[in-house]
Amino acid sequence: MPRLLLALLHTLLLVTAYAFNTSNVPDNLPDIPSNRVDLTRTLTDATTIANTVAQVRQKAGASGNPNHPVPETVVTARDGKLTSKGQLTSNATSLAGLFERSKRSPSDYILVFGGSPVNSEARDASIEGTAYLTFTLVSNATYNIGDCLAFCDSVRECVFANIYYEFNNDALDHRESSNLKCAVYADTHTAAEKTNYGGQQSEPLPAGLTYIQQSSGFSKRTLVDPTDPDGYSLVFGPTSGANNAPGYMGFSFLDRYDVAACAKECNQRGADGQGGACKYFNIWRAVVNGNPTTYTCSMYYLVADQSTATNTGQGDLKVTYSRGYKRLSYAEDGGFESLQKLCFGFCWTQLDSSWAGINSFGGFDEAAIFYYTPYAHSGGVIGMLGSLGNYDNLPGTLTPVKPLKTVAGKKYLIEFFYASTYSGSNKGANAYVDVSWNGQVVNTVKGYSTWKPASVEVVGKGGDTIAFHGGAGSAIVFLDDVGVFQL
Ligand SMILES: *[C@@H]1O[C@H](CO)[C@@H](O)[C@H](O)[C@H]1NC(C)=O
Ligand SMILES: *[C@@H]1O[C@H](CO)[C@@H](O)[C@H](O)[C@H]1NC(C)=O
Ligand SMILES: *[C@@H]1O[C@H](CO)[C@@H](O)[C@H](O)[C@H]1NC(C)=O
Repeated sequence: MPRLLLALLHTLLLVTAYAFNTSNVPDNLPDIPSNRVDLTRTLTDATTIANTVAQVRQKAGASGNPNHPVPETVVTARDGKLTSKGQLTSNATSLAGLFERSKRSPSDYILVFGGSPVNSEARDASIEGTAYLTFTLVSNATYNIGDCLAFCDSVRECVFANIYYEFNNDALDHRESSNLKCAVYADTHTAAEKTNYGGQQSEPLPAGLTYIQQSSGFSKRTLVDPTDPDGYSLVFGPTSGANNAPGYMGFSFLDRYDVAACAKECNQRGADGQGGACKYFNIWRAVVNGNPTTYTCSMYYLVADQSTATNTGQGDLKVTYSRGYKRLSYAEDGGFESLQKLCFGFCWTQLDSSWAGINSFGGFDEAAIFYYTPYAHSGGVIGMLGSLGNYDNLPGTLTPVKPLKTVAGKKYLIEFFYASTYSGSNKGANAYVDVSWNGQVVNTVKGYSTWKPASVEVVGKGGDTIAFHGGAGSAIVFLDDVGVFQL
């Protein structure tokens, strides 16, 4: 629709909105079966999360060959069930690869714990902890802290290094040039997690069992804030409170604090029957008895914020580094709620600052934004297609007034909520809506239904357009909570 025409319509709208600015709801509005999104019993299931924290085993230390590339973040549990990766398996994927080294001063690190004394027979232990990334061997001509911290700097996620000698290890003694191990982690650890004393018969007798000496730990002075994952923005954090919020969809445990991996879990989570796709996640570190134990990724179909981030833990479990991220929608005001600002309790319009309702040629009032809370899926306003006044049998079209700020080549999920209860089950059976993406119909929903989510995946070409077309005359269609999310 030409911009000038939209501008003209916009002027008309203000008059229309004013004309309908009343709290006296017309008495011919039918009561319809209400199935607003029901949030009872949809709060975060903190008990199942805590019980699963108690079971998960995702601590590891350096083993196998050095210089494995850092593996992808893995999921160690989903919804109370451990994955195979959550049951103490720590073999990093074996791929060839080298790390670039960068120069950084050891003063960027603090010593968290020292090792057993030099020139003594005292035995020590290496760390078994969460968020293990990889290890390298550094020259053992000296106790080579500098090279180990430089290695940590070269690994993007590294914040902690454990350096130690390992003796009687066949591979180190006969196939490598050093027995000084440098194991790096994406989380910090303490001496309380020195639990690997060696004790394997690696070399033939009469050689002794493997053992460890001079195991010290260095942590980066400052933890870097993660960058927002693609398609999400930070809502709050870091705090020591996890969300206890409605619209909860379940959780995954990750083997490290990885906001991008949590976003991927959210994107891939199946839609909730009444709430639709995942639109928010809360990531936090679980510390049990002082030791990092797992990284929780809780998912929600409603956007939460810090006001519900009140669960600081229970028993031995403490919540740390809690952050909330919301999924960005490219559909501006997808719930049509800005109309609420123009009137009080009830009104409707064919145009506001985000959406335009377009009639069929020769038709009248076939697409509108309607403020009447009892009809809404959430909030107070809905989109409506069909002849509101029962004037004709023509469909209408609702479309954003501006092209979406989408990007060429990216995949998007269009989600919306559909209901056709207004016309009753007989007429409502003829209700339908076609969803178009750049003028092509990509999805059709039809028939009688109380509110239900519908979605379709599309590919952007940049500045894309979307339109909802339908509502055959008196078979009125309601739309609400339109979202266009990046996949
Ligand atoms: C992991 O290591 C164990 C023992 O070293 C080995 O038996 C197993 O096959 C390895 N698993 C994978 C997936 O590499
Ligand atoms: C250095 O490492 C090599 C290979 O493991 C080992 O043979 C040598 O004894 C080590 N030197 C010291 C001082 O530990
Ligand atoms: C609509 O009515 C409400 C309440 O009476 C008032 O606050 C608001 O300013 C009115 N809006 C317009 C656009 O006149």
